Amino acid sequence: MPNSQSDRKREMGHKEKSKEKKDKRMQQISLLRTIPYSDHQRWWSKETIAVVTGANRGIGFEICKQLAYHGITVILTSRDDSVAIESIKVLQEGGLDVACHKLDVLDSSSINQFAEWLKENYGGLDILVNNAGVNFNFGSDNSVENAHKVIETNYYGTKKMIEAMIPLMKPSNVGARIVNVTSRLGRLNGRRNRLDNDALREKLSDIESLSEEIIDETVNTFMQQVENGSWVSGGWPPKFTDYSVSKLAVNAYTRFLSKKLCERPEGQKIYINCYCPGWVKTALTGYAGSVTVEEGADTGVWLSLLPDQAITGKFFAERREIHF
Ligand SMILES: NC(=O)c1ccc[n+]([C@@H]2O[C@H](COP(=O)([O-])OP(=O)(O)OC[C@H]3O[C@@H](n4cnc5c(N)ncnc54)[C@H](OP(=O)(O)O)[C@@H]3O)[C@@H](O)[C@H]2O)c1
Repeated sequence: MPNSQSDRKREMGHKEKSKEKKDKRMQQISLLRTIPYSDHQRWWSKETIAVVTGANRGIGFEICKQLAYHGITVILTSRDDSVAIESIKVLQEGGLDVACHKLDVLDSSSINQFAEWLKENYGGLDILVNNAGVNFNFGSDNSVENAHKVIETNYYGTKKMIEAMIPLMKPSNVGARIVNVTSRLGRLNGRRNRLDNDALREKLSDIESLSEEIIDETVNTFMQQVENGSWVSGGWPPKFTDYSVSKLAVNAYTRFLSKKLCERPEGQKIYINCYCPGWVKTALTGYAGSVTVEEGADTGVWLSLLPDQAITGKFFAERREIHF
């Protein structure tokens, strides 16, 4: 917290500079988005299948639209099938090749039914975008009333989807791709909103010893503290705490899994990365964001289509790698 006039001035100067830098980057990206992929970059075709979760609205819907626009066959999924049908109509009317299916990432039987349908109808998939997510806090709220739902959807839902989809990922010499939509709020070493516990931060940062157990244990400790009311003094990220913990866990899981997936033989590689879409004008932010859904979807689409397939286990924002 700035405590003198000069501290406040410095802080303001820093904010202005970073806003300027960000605006410039967004302008560059708008330009990059107008440049079509060349033939030698296009490793995909109409036979390439992408699955997007929570895609009936917001960033997920836009990711479907942009992937389909690039000529990929997209499966738009939604926990409400009537909404999914309405959503694909809009895209199909625009001439895009999009199908839909019901999928609730909180429900294992829904995931299994979807997996069976996908295998039977499409033989598997090439790209998985884990976009489904919830947040129940707005502005300066920081309630953990819905922490269970937030953690179950954002972290365990993503994990369950990945576990169910990996066996269905098609072998390919360019590698299948998983893109997790996460958030800078879940950064381990961000300037603000980070875990207060140095030992835990180090444990989660140490990619050599990071394990699924460590990540689950972290999330479970948070949930226990929510249940017994001690979370406030637990040293958890101070903003949107439950949401930040859920995204921190997905970020860590992305890193952990990328190492495991690297062990797969050539021809069966799966590359996994995560990205922050920015503060996007969607229902999740009460439409209070600073970037459009087109901008928010951009890095997810770019990562899904990366011609340089060897990139894995990284965190991105605005088409650039950022620190976890
Ligand atoms: N907006 C931002 O500023 C921002 C910033 C950083 C990260 N993100 C992330 O971006 C992703 C998309 O968010 P958004 O901003 O586009 O919000 P949104 O418009 O609220 O979309 C969220 C989507 O997730 C779906 N969903 C929620 N629970 C689900 C479940 N159990 N199973 C399947 N789908 C489920 C929602 O379906 P219903 O319509 O049925 O509710 C909706 O389609 C989220 O992971 C979010 O955390 C957003």
